[in-house]
Amino acid sequence: MATIDETFDSNVAYLTINNPPVNALATAIRAGLVAAIRKAAENPAVKAIVIIGADKTFVAGADIRELGKPLQRPFFPDVLAAIEALTKPVIAALHGNALGGGLELALACHYRVALASVKVGLPEVTLGLLPGAGGTQRLPRLVGPAKALDMILSGKPVDGRAALLLGIVDELAEGTTGADLLQGAQTFAHKMLAERRRATLVSARQDKVSAVDPALFEDIRSKNAAKWRGQLAQESIVACVEAACTLPFAEGMAFERERFFALKDSSQCKAMRHVFFAEREASKVPGLPADVKARSVRSVAIIGAGTMGGGIAMAFANAGIPVTQIELGAEALANGRAIIENNYATSVARGSMSRDKAAKALTLIKGGTNYADIADCDLVVEAVFESMDIKKAIFRKLDAVMKPGAILATNTSTLDIDEIAAATKRPEAVIGTHFFSPANVMKLQENVRGAHSSAETIASVMSLAKKIGKIPVLSGNCEGFIGNRMLYNYVRECDFLLEEGATPWQVDNALKAFGFPMGVYLMRDLAGLDVSWRVRKGREATRDMSERYSPIADRICELGRFGQKTGAGYYRYDGRTASPDPKIEALIESVSRDQGRTRKPVSDEDIVMRALCALVNEGAKILEEGIASRAGDIDVIYVNGYGFPRYRGGPMFFAEHEGLATIHAHIQRLYLEQGQLWKPAPLLARLAKSGEGWSAGAASPGSPGRNTGVHQAIVKQ
Ligand code: 3HC
Repeated sequence: MATIDETFDSNVAYLTINNPPVNALATAIRAGLVAAIRKAAENPAVKAIVIIGADKTFVAGADIRELGKPLQRPFFPDVLAAIEALTKPVIAALHGNALGGGLELALACHYRVALASVKVGLPEVTLGLLPGAGGTQRLPRLVGPAKALDMILSGKPVDGRAALLLGIVDELAEGTTGADLLQGAQTFAHKMLAERRRATLVSARQDKVSAVDPALFEDIRSKNAAKWRGQLAQESIVACVEAACTLPFAEGMAFERERFFALKDSSQCKAMRHVFFAEREASKVPGLPADVKARSVRSVAIIGAGTMGGGIAMAFANAGIPVTQIELGAEALANGRAIIENNYATSVARGSMSRDKAAKALTLIKGGTNYADIADCDLVVEAVFESMDIKKAIFRKLDAVMKPGAILATNTSTLDIDEIAAATKRPEAVIGTHFFSPANVMKLQENVRGAHSSAETIASVMSLAKKIGKIPVLSGNCEGFIGNRMLYNYVRECDFLLEEGATPWQVDNALKAFGFPMGVYLMRDLAGLDVSWRVRKGREATRDMSERYSPIADRICELGRFGQKTGAGYYRYDGRTASPDPKIEALIESVSRDQGRTRKPVSDEDIVMRALCALVNEGAKILEEGIASRAGDIDVIYVNGYGFPRYRGGPMFFAEHEGLATIHAHIQRLYLEQGQLWKPAPLLARLAKSGEGWSAGAASPGSPGRNTGVHQAIVKQ
């Protein structure tokens, strides 16, 4: 129930915004505020008004679900204008989150009192939007255009102390609870009344926005042009803050409103709203019994102190969870430790982590060589070399030493979870936790359930991932799981495009122009080409010889070119700077010749469509098989683990946006041209015909699916 709860106590009216869980400013809340404000204004007994949020938070902004529909009256800027125009002092009392429209509401009030723990910010840019209720006009008037741009463009919130220093809040309330805040707001209100102080309206302040050097805006535009490439919101944000410095307040508000609507109705905002909700939905596992409880994980062991093991250890330590790393010998442990220390030092030097936090995290990471030392840990994550034999041997050992109830996880990115689990006598406790490199930074955690993973094991790793700040997605068990299985097809088609007429730099540039931070070949050069070469060689004996196979990557490795680390791969390197290499072009042309192919020009558009269709066709199979629960889960994986541009919503959103019939027709054309590898996924063919979206085609809990699916009967331990 969305309500404004009104109470009154010694001259002060308290309006409590009550719309759990985040007190979003839904239509009912805006209407309730207008009515409550009017009542308080008309009541002669009310001398001051406090606006506060119910429970643990102020307001997390506009109701994002309403942004996809025509907006309803009362419009938000009008509500804020009415609040600002009141002659009685209005005090915003802030705790929890005061974000987006929440901060805009606070800025329209005459004073702001906050708990030190509050987070205040304008994160609209993360939704492809700009603050549309005066945020771009009022915040620069309080903190100046440079700081306002910093906050609005980054979307990052600041805490109460920083907000006080910046002048966003007027006073910090003592204490930590909602009751403390209420008390602080009450005291503040009475002080205002006793002193008969009249606030200067934020909209009337001019000192920070007059005589601003226009170079500030040009500078920001030119410095960020490459970073903002393809995105709409950032330029509009700069234009609005510039307008705050050049136009009267009312005209600035009109300018902001116009820009806000253009963004709100854009496909970029739609895509980013989709990702916002998909990220939250992904952590909910369909079919998991409601009464299943996640185990509390108070200590973690990591097997392996290499790059992945170290990153995973840091991810847990950063969240305050003690970690023990196990290695074969002291030297490997010391090397791993040195890398971790170096990573923390870099974070501190960059300012992304405080010295104290880094020092505390480091004390939580210990090393050892003896499995007996980790027997009492609640969770162990194996993160060693990608070899089934080695992993099985480790899991046999873990099974022998770990306490009953411990969760045994593997960080494999491709191997069969069930085969690993079969090495133990407790397959119900075994699960995949696929982290992405660098694991202390990347948000995605692709958890992979085996046939016997118990509900409790699944619930525990999903919940733990959130605790350590990751975005968890649950995948079924198949080769490559969701992310790498799709990636395999994407890379394969890029390789075929090379044989047909494209160059690595053309493919990379086309994908970059679409919005990927990096194309396929720069990415492969960065990761190193030798590991996948070894994997391919291992599979050579069992490869289906009737299937098209591109030998380009193998030929490049045969030249000893393993990517950036050897100074050459697909590109030539001078340090980290890549340049196109005529030798590679000649190598690719010779492969085309060997295959009897006539090379033809390939357009950038064809490159992008072919690469994306490869993702979508495999994604549709993954969805139909129940390997992914929802199309949104696939999008979350691609946006957070594979650099798919958030403002395009992920591959499955992209396909739906283009029209599943259009994508199907494209894939059908490729099937006729290229053969079996492009056979359209049956689900895609069906939906293209019926005109429905992905949600009509996902395997539901209890559906037949394959026994590898994410929905197979969830075993309660
Ligand atoms: N509108 C609608 N629903 C929202 C919401 C919002 N602004 N913010 C959060 N929710 C929902 C989530 O979808 C989730 O729903 P679910 O339980 O059904 O999955 C629930 O509230 C809890 O959210 P989280 O799981 O994200 O909870 P956390 O405690 O982890 O995080 C938060 C809280 C930091 C507030 C985070 O939810 C958040 O960042 N919210 C969005 C903030 C935002 O972007 N605000 C700007 C909105 S646009 C705007 O204000 C336009 C204005 O300028 C005109």
